[in-house]
Amino acid sequence: MSTRRPFIGGNWKMNLHQGEAVDLALALADKITGDSVQIAVFPAFPYLLPVATVLHEKGAPIAVGAQDVYTQSNGAFTGEVSLSMLQDCGVSTVLVGHSERRHVIGETDPLINDKVLAALEAGMDVILAVGETIEQREADKTDSINTGQLGYGLAGVSDEQMKRVTIAYEPVWAIGTGKTATPDDAQRAHMVIRQAIAFMFDQAVADGVRIQYGGSMKPGNAAELLAQTDIDGGLIGGASLKADDFAGIIQAAAATV
Ligand code: 13P
Repeated sequence: MSTRRPFIGGNWKMNLHQGEAVDLALALADKITGDSVQIAVFPAFPYLLPVATVLHEKGAPIAVGAQDVYTQSNGAFTGEVSLSMLQDCGVSTVLVGHSERRHVIGETDPLINDKVLAALEAGMDVILAVGETIEQREADKTDSINTGQLGYGLAGVSDEQMKRVTIAYEPVWAIGTGKTATPDDAQRAHMVIRQAIAFMFDQAVADGVRIQYGGSMKPGNAAELLAQTDIDGGLIGGASLKADDFAGIIQAAAATV
């Protein structure tokens, strides 16, 4: 348990059409009260505005985030979405470097760093995701991959900007597979990530930064994971698509406060 305010994100990925996304937002607005846990949901681009609108109308303590963003403010970048467009839709947080962006779409560390810097410059909060594949884990490269992705992703970020950065540790082999890192393994990886941040910035920055765990977190395993010293929340995929499951994870996080 730490003194950092837990942060739970629901990454809806490329799921839910408009009616389902709005219904889920409404169900969450009914279930979630209080502010001991910071909460954000990440709908697909076309539904950011309707989801942000209903959450705002309900006065729900749930922020709306985007799953990705582009670095440039406008112009000939077919298919991309700018930070100011997202802000126009009520988005306050962007997810950068998710494993599916890295490993399925092919985003590189330099592009991820450009996105982090552009988002922070625009005043957004950023969740930077890092994590090793199963091959990297088996080759004993977990720490070097995570610290390498951190070093690239956070290059040029100031101590002051780090107050708006959250790290998501998402072991690729645990995402959507039902396999979860054991609480001990996850804690160890989080501790190494925090030490790397202390090395890159300083101990105060490292002590303040939230590190979410992502990878098959569910109501049944959340409490044990969230009880670890360096686990300050979760980034939830599958279980965030069901209001009861997502609320259950938030409840587990609230119990650590
Ligand atoms: P799952 O919770 O479905 O494993 O997804 C985790 C994730 O990728 C969140 O960004």
